[in-house]
Amino acid sequence: MAEYIHVSVAWPYANGDLHVGHLAGAYLPADIFARYHRLKGNHVLMVSGSDAHGTPISVEADKRGIPPSELFEYYHRRFLETQKAIGVSYDLFTHTDTENHHRIAQDIFLKLLERGYLYRETQRQLYSETEGRFLPDRFVEGECPVCHYPNARGDQCDNCGNLLDAVDLINPRSKTDGSRPVLRETEHYFLDLKAFIPRLREYLADGKAHWRPNVLALSQNKVETLIGRPITRDIDWGIPVPIPGWETKRLYVWFEAVMGYLTASIEWAHNVGDPEAWKKWWYNPPAKIYNFIGKDNIEFHTIIWPAELLGISGIYTQDDSTPINLPYDVPANEFMNIEGQKFSKSRNWAVWIPDILQRYDPDAIRYCIAAAFPESKDADWNWAEFVQRNNNELVAAWGNLVNRMLTFARKNFDGAVPTPGQLADEDEAIIAKAEAAFTVIGDLLASVRLRGALQETMALVRDTNAYLDRRAPWKRIKEDRQDAATAVYTVLRVIDNLKILLAPFLPFTAERLHGYLGYDGQLFGDQVIVNYHESTRDHEGLTYDASKATGRWEPSQLKPGQALREPAPLFKKLGNTPAEEAAIIESERARLGQPTT
Ligand code: MF3
Ligand code: ZN
Repeated sequence: MAEYIHVSVAWPYANGDLHVGHLAGAYLPADIFARYHRLKGNHVLMVSGSDAHGTPISVEADKRGIPPSELFEYYHRRFLETQKAIGVSYDLFTHTDTENHHRIAQDIFLKLLERGYLYRETQRQLYSETEGRFLPDRFVEGECPVCHYPNARGDQCDNCGNLLDAVDLINPRSKTDGSRPVLRETEHYFLDLKAFIPRLREYLADGKAHWRPNVLALSQNKVETLIGRPITRDIDWGIPVPIPGWETKRLYVWFEAVMGYLTASIEWAHNVGDPEAWKKWWYNPPAKIYNFIGKDNIEFHTIIWPAELLGISGIYTQDDSTPINLPYDVPANEFMNIEGQKFSKSRNWAVWIPDILQRYDPDAIRYCIAAAFPESKDADWNWAEFVQRNNNELVAAWGNLVNRMLTFARKNFDGAVPTPGQLADEDEAIIAKAEAAFTVIGDLLASVRLRGALQETMALVRDTNAYLDRRAPWKRIKEDRQDAATAVYTVLRVIDNLKILLAPFLPFTAERLHGYLGYDGQLFGDQVIVNYHESTRDHEGLTYDASKATGRWEPSQLKPGQALREPAPLFKKLGNTPAEEAAIIESERARLGQPTT
């Protein structure tokens, strides 16, 4: 029976371009996972969007001297183009400044308030006398009260990962002018997290064996000491607090951004003309919701968002007690460093996706990130490895296998898949292995062990190359044409299987290979940038049009006699000599840490 799979992907702050860390942490794992489930025939709903609000946007906009709305709109547009180009197949990539998101976030606030989960409290907050405003979250920096890192941000310490309250910073200073803020009283709404402790404890205890141990341990550990958290801020960019007299305050960005998983699902349902369709993922107990995020966001997804969901049970249904689905799994990834050093936006120690897409193909980039996914520990992006993996694994092992066989078959067997004779044990063994891989690799993909799934698949590529070298149809054809035909048929069938097994990772080249093998139609649907203007305020989004998708996660049925199309190499070799390779690596390394223009 087809399953309902919700793929929720962390919403990137629209204050800078996407970089390798984003792809490694959340966007690429989510896409691979979603593509696998689509091939399986499951009902996938994959959503995310630009995180438009909060001090990360305001601070950057102030720095550039432009309004936050202008900054966010610029990067939202870039996110759409970049993700289309690298093939992240959202059913909807929207943003948090839509009328839809504002309205539902305010509904949720009011629902929590009505049920007694919000309370008001006066607290002391940092206030800048020079700027004449409060300095919440990232408007302020200082020493971390936990690990004593000197440059912790007001919302979170980059060094130890703990979520912080700006007032607890030691020696706080304004991010804008460096001045020392003073304490001033202000009133805010708080989410009563304490009230959720028993239910969260139960949620985190119950059937979580499939969770990553670090994600589970961190979450269980935090639950016991939960206290109320303020969910409003003294800022002017964000979603208004729907209470008279609160016009100068806004909802806290994290309080509302996580709601995007729900609001985007509702927007998607509107956009496809089936307004209730989102409930198949949210109000259907067997449906599974997966949150793909980076490790710095764990607490928001395993504690705060589940608490909000517990607090709004039954929203938009007839019955207040109907439970809404909580995340089934939160497969958070660790970080991807760059050439052995931590990513840093300020030092431009980063590999920006729009930039590398100008020089390299999307599947080569996807492959190198996926092969090193930081699933259990931090990983490293380094250019020597990129060139080596591209040339040895993609070009030499996989690309050449494909190109060699398609060219040979076309030339020697009338441009078509040859008709095999009796398959020998060896032929049957490699086919059986490729067919069994659908279960083995499928299980790895379904349990979000994506790096392992790719490793297994590449091992099959190597086995196929070894098989082909032993069978050597280019020699056999001179002695026994039938036997050569059998070997070529066998390899083409395994290639046809590998095409599907690799398709979640390498969708662009899998699609091309599908055509070379003589099939019509597409494996996957298309990603399209759409201008939505009916259900929400005018805005552009990215959507997955599944209408042409015909790919299936099942063993090849390649037919003898199927006409093959003229192939072109699937991948480009980087550098033809060791010296040329070294030059590419050198020039990429030289870009790191350079001031951007
Ligand atoms: N904008 C946050 C970041 O870039 C992630 C938000 S995830 C969400 O770290 F679900 F809350 F939206
Ligand atoms: Zn710290």
